[in-house]
Amino acid sequence: MTGSTDKGSSRRRFLGNVAGALGGAMVTEAQIAVAATAPRQEPGRGLVAGRVEPFFGTHQAGIATPMQSHLYFAVFDIVTDQRGAVEALLRRWTEASAWLTAGRPLENEASADQIPLDSAEAEGLEPARLTLTFGFGPGLFVKDGVDRFGLAAQRPAALVDMPKFNGDQLIVERTGGDLCVQACADHPQVAMHAARHLARIGAGVVQLRWVQAGFSADNPHKKGETARNLMGFKDGTVNPDPRDAAGMAQHVWVGEDGGWMKGVAYLVARPIRIAIERWDRMKLGFQEQVVGRHKASGAPLGGVHEFEPARLDAIDADGNYIIPENSHIRLAAAETNGGARIFRRAYSYDNGLAHIAERWPPWRQGLLMDAGLMFLAWQRDPRSGFIPVFENMAKFDMMNQFVTHVGSGLFACPPGAQPGGFIGDTLFARLILPN
Ligand code: HEM
Repeated sequence: MTGSTDKGSSRRRFLGNVAGALGGAMVTEAQIAVAATAPRQEPGRGLVAGRVEPFFGTHQAGIATPMQSHLYFAVFDIVTDQRGAVEALLRRWTEASAWLTAGRPLENEASADQIPLDSAEAEGLEPARLTLTFGFGPGLFVKDGVDRFGLAAQRPAALVDMPKFNGDQLIVERTGGDLCVQACADHPQVAMHAARHLARIGAGVVQLRWVQAGFSADNPHKKGETARNLMGFKDGTVNPDPRDAAGMAQHVWVGEDGGWMKGVAYLVARPIRIAIERWDRMKLGFQEQVVGRHKASGAPLGGVHEFEPARLDAIDADGNYIIPENSHIRLAAAETNGGARIFRRAYSYDNGLAHIAERWPPWRQGLLMDAGLMFLAWQRDPRSGFIPVFENMAKFDMMNQFVTHVGSGLFACPPGAQPGGFIGDTLFARLILPN
């Protein structure tokens, strides 16, 4: 760090850049000050050593990245009608993300009469493999029929308005959104700090709409073992292998045909509540029939090893399918959905008690805890991925007795940024209209 004059001038320079980048956006001085949360390494403090996931790359990190233990998923509404302000924010988010994911300390030198620029709860914590993955909801392109930013013509056909599925009980406050950030890290406070910081940078341009924290049972000491979800079953056994580039290209990334969308992946994000108290009262045999797998080993019913193929055509002595017709894995399998595959990277969640105002009678015990699965599924097109797979499951899956979809979002997650570029630049670079 050089002397205070230098600090002042570099800060002024940065403020100038932000004001310029906001390009005429109607933002207040205070909002610019917050937007100017300049990430900067301070000599003497240095980086906290630890595992780092690279932020820049062909694809955004946080999709093919091996799962971290914690999630903080944040969804925003855009509250400005100035495209320049949205673009400036994406530049700022990119810059801040590169610093945050590298574990670099943010500038935080408030005097007693100043508001600190960094909330500081990640001070001293290692980077914890933080990834920040951004997505564009339909509302970035068209909102209530209005083309707010001149982006309507660029809306991908695959970024559909989600159909209503059988059994959906979507809560408006946990549904939709114009932008999303998936923060994943091996420390909950690192993930939360990053999302909180990005929200803060966005003041005046975006506003939080819904958030969901989550955790995974992924055990770093037992790598290779599939994590268990809150139903106690191994979850993630049959999934495209993120290390298989060809498989990911086939199922997850949009290819050459995509225009600005080349390298996009579509994210279906759904908080799914599980009536865990009710589930816990079910006999083991019934639980296994519901899922179609053995609970202890994770093997498909009729099998012994977790990763052996499920024999969907196998029948028992009475002529019934060993893996029941309305079991979860049969209805979800690519074989029963015309080959449709999605890449699941889901986290469990626990929002505490759903109702605390009164003591529920025993018959309502299943409604007590607001816990479940933050379902996150990636694909190259939801019209040939999540939608056909779930349409069938939503009607017939035995698991539906225990799970309720309470929120939903669909996001086009743009390609990764290159150094000097920003998240979404392939979209914004195509635009010539002033705004
Ligand atoms: C709370 C909700 C859910 C729970 C607890 C759950 C749990 C599970 C479990 C335990 C498995 C077996 C292990 C595995 O292969 O991963 C599985 C498989 C699967 N699930 Fe789910 N799941 C849920 C929702 C969904 C939804 C909404 C979808 C998509 C529409 C889905 C798609 C799949 C697929 C594609 C498989 C692999 C099927 C195969 O064997 O080929 N799941 N799920």
